[in-house]
Amino acid sequence: MTVGIDKIAFFAPDTYVDLTDLAQARDVDPNKYLIGIGQSEQTVVPVTQDAVTMAANAASKLLTETDRQALGMVLFGTESGVDHSKSAAVYLRSLLDLPASIRTVELKHACYGATAGLMMAKDYVTLHPEKKVLVIGSDIARYGLNTPGEVTQGGGAVAMLVSQNARILALEDDSVVKSEDAMDFWRPLYRKEALVDGHASENIYIDFFTAVFDDYQKLTGRTIEDFDALAFHLPFTKMGLKALRAVLPQANDLKQQRLLEAFEASRVYNRRVGNLYTGSLYLSLMSLLANGELPAGSRIGLFSYGSGAEGEFFAGQLMPDFDPQALQADFAQFFGQRRRVSVPAYERLFNQSLPDHDVLLDTKADSARFVLRGITHDQRQYQDRTKA
Ligand code: CAA
Repeated sequence: MTVGIDKIAFFAPDTYVDLTDLAQARDVDPNKYLIGIGQSEQTVVPVTQDAVTMAANAASKLLTETDRQALGMVLFGTESGVDHSKSAAVYLRSLLDLPASIRTVELKHACYGATAGLMMAKDYVTLHPEKKVLVIGSDIARYGLNTPGEVTQGGGAVAMLVSQNARILALEDDSVVKSEDAMDFWRPLYRKEALVDGHASENIYIDFFTAVFDDYQKLTGRTIEDFDALAFHLPFTKMGLKALRAVLPQANDLKQQRLLEAFEASRVYNRRVGNLYTGSLYLSLMSLLANGELPAGSRIGLFSYGSGAEGEFFAGQLMPDFDPQALQADFAQFFGQRRRVSVPAYERLFNQSLPDHDVLLDTKADSARFVLRGITHDQRQYQDRTKA
């Protein structure tokens, strides 16, 4: 039985800032952002979108009635939770009208949360082959205006349906995980923006990747030659390139060239969307699948990293029925409809935050199906605009 990713969908708000504009406003050489960081555009998330609405906007694209009836769990990876207690997954269940007889759980380990969900989903479906699991990675990456991390912000959601006989990526059984208490990136409960030891976080990311990739090779006997592509968590796309370069010398010249080409395909969308935290690896996977021209049966290695820190390397095989055309069309439509905002407009949107009292938000500028309408009696009010 093959268990893996049967369907995958993406959502991000339709506003973005161009990073050449941002570089000029910050008096920085644009090539630092475009080449040095490897980002060219960045999603700007309005106050009317949060982790729940973005997840609903992504997941609503992929669930049929048959999927809904087969769902056993909703596993919601996020580090942008909207409540200290109430699970984002149960809000999602209600917005999507999912059956009540399912587990709805929010998972947190910085950017690793969705991978935790994917691994749990795989184990669960292996035990309950008739069931399916909805796995979410949904986040808003915020470091603050005029900070070194500003160029690595972004936001959005990826939704994945895990099932048997998966039509996109069959997940292999072997994976290697590493966990260690590290203070590279964190966000105390009282803060809206993350705190980060930027250069240390890059080093820990590379250390974790090389450690789990080495252990994976010892465990499985496979080498870098066995992979057709490596996909990485991409907080900014240069980060993945640095990780890839750390292991490329293990490959022969032809394989090096192929892996570099695949990496370029895997960062096309991330370069224009920005950091999704939990969703970044899976947006990169979508970018690879849409732009990489990989044949059926290709083995893709995936490195997931969550600060604090947890890293996991695992692999999957591309299924014969996968057709990239629908993915390509979705992203062409998404990028075609986005609105570029000026730097002052981005700063205004960034500085808007929810008050700690009741409020009714103006949602006119937000084109998404699911929006945050406001707060009443300390309770978030969500709206599905397809309903009256
Ligand atoms: N032309 C081309 N390249 C240029 C350039 C120019 N004019 N000017 C500078 N560069 C290059 C630099 O040489 C450097 O390249 P290398 O990294 O290859 O050496 C790159 O641009 C960045 O320059 P700096 O290191 O000087 O940049 P910085 O100090 O301003 O900050 C950063 C960079 C540390 C990544 C910062 O943006 C940051 O803190 N980001 C958030 C932390 C982060 O994303 N960490 C990743 C690991 S943690 C994680 O993955 C979890 C998560 O999602 C947060």
